Amino acid sequence: MRTYLVTGGAGFIGSNYIHYMFRKYDNEIRIINVDKLTYAGNLANLADVENRDNYTFVKADVCDSSAIRKIFAENDIDRVVHFAAESHVDRSIKDPEVFVRTNVLGTLVMLNAAKEAWEKEDGTFKENKKFLHVSTDEVYGSLDYDGSYFYETTPYDPHSPYSASKASSDFLVKSYMDTYGFPANITNCSNNYGPYQFPEKLIPLIINNALHGKKLPVYGDGKNVRDWLYVEDHAKGIDMVQEKGRLFETYNIGGHNEKQNIEIIYTIIDTLQEMLSDDDPRKALVSRDLITYVADRKGHDKRYAIAPDKIKEEVGWYPETCFAEGIKKTIKWYFENEDWMNNVTSGDYQKYYEDMYKNR
Ligand code: NAD
Ligand code: DAU
Repeated sequence: MRTYLVTGGAGFIGSNYIHYMFRKYDNEIRIINVDKLTYAGNLANLADVENRDNYTFVKADVCDSSAIRKIFAENDIDRVVHFAAESHVDRSIKDPEVFVRTNVLGTLVMLNAAKEAWEKEDGTFKENKKFLHVSTDEVYGSLDYDGSYFYETTPYDPHSPYSASKASSDFLVKSYMDTYGFPANITNCSNNYGPYQFPEKLIPLIINNALHGKKLPVYGDGKNVRDWLYVEDHAKGIDMVQEKGRLFETYNIGGHNEKQNIEIIYTIIDTLQEMLSDDDPRKALVSRDLITYVADRKGHDKRYAIAPDKIKEEVGWYPETCFAEGIKKTIKWYFENEDWMNNVTSGDYQKYYEDMYKNR
């Protein structure tokens, strides 16, 4: 039975990936999920898999080399899927240090532990061992509003402390592939949306604020463009890259779904109004009048867009979920999981929100 070591599996994309993998492979695989459970990690995201015999949770920091090496020593790991990271650009602007620690040092620790476990005496690697590093399109910098795209060959040009830390981690992975022949892939993905996303990110934040009649903060002129990808499509892409991609290659994973931020907000408001029944008191709260233009993000990248041609040609993956369908599924999930939202927005979140938005 193949054993996966997933890092950051209690976060947004990691938990969706674990759900996807158990739906697809059921009892044919074993998953060990290693997560430090920062503010972004939430075991409630995995409540429905926690009792499976082929699932194990280990609370550990990816920077803790002895804890990570112990997992490799005690288990014959076949696949690593490395999601664990600090992931929010705005937080990286306020407090970059933890981003360098987790995203750069944590990746190095994961690489070293896997290399130590998988390397043979002659310096080659055991058969069929693979490491997938999950990265972001933000490493490529910012595009103009001119129809251009990010390709795997686009030079790196990160602007935020977050994207600089992810770029550094990508370079470490590349250096291990080039220096040691370490069996890895890198995927650089566009903006994900879907269930279990923490409401510091645009889509869940707007859904939650709108349902509470709170202001909907739009940075700058609202015209920045992001390329939105439904998270389940991303999970499928990661699995397909590991199984069908060429080792040592980078694959960009994108939604081919560019939208201005303001369009996203209009769509959420319209969809909420459509989906809420007339006798639901929240319906009267949801309105375009809540939209509030606030100070722009520092160094705000204008536009991201991926042409997912390489992954389509080589691996056969393409984004299956159109935005109209994906956003409905997402909003429905948040409707049906009000307790999840209430839990994650109690306590520290209130302080975070006040600090992040008070001077905007
Ligand atoms: P997230 O913030 O929702 O989850 C991150 C997870 O990592 C959490 O469970 C957290 O507890 C865990 N973690 C953080 N620091 C850790 C540490 N030191 N040790 C162990 N665990 C730790 O992030 P996400 O949105 O799910 O993103 C996952 C990965 O995908 C990240 O590497 C991110 O850079 C990348 N990515 C995200 C997006 C997106 O749109 N969300 C797009 C492209 C790439
Ligand atoms: O492109 C991939 C990246 O997408 C990932 O690497 C990051 O981990 C992920 O967080 C995401 O980064 P963004 O900065 O693009 O996502 P965010 O949801 O924070 O913001 C999306 C856009 O919405 C961005 O242009 C900023 C804007 N925004 C965001 C918030 C939170 C607002 O206008 N108002 C807000 O309150």
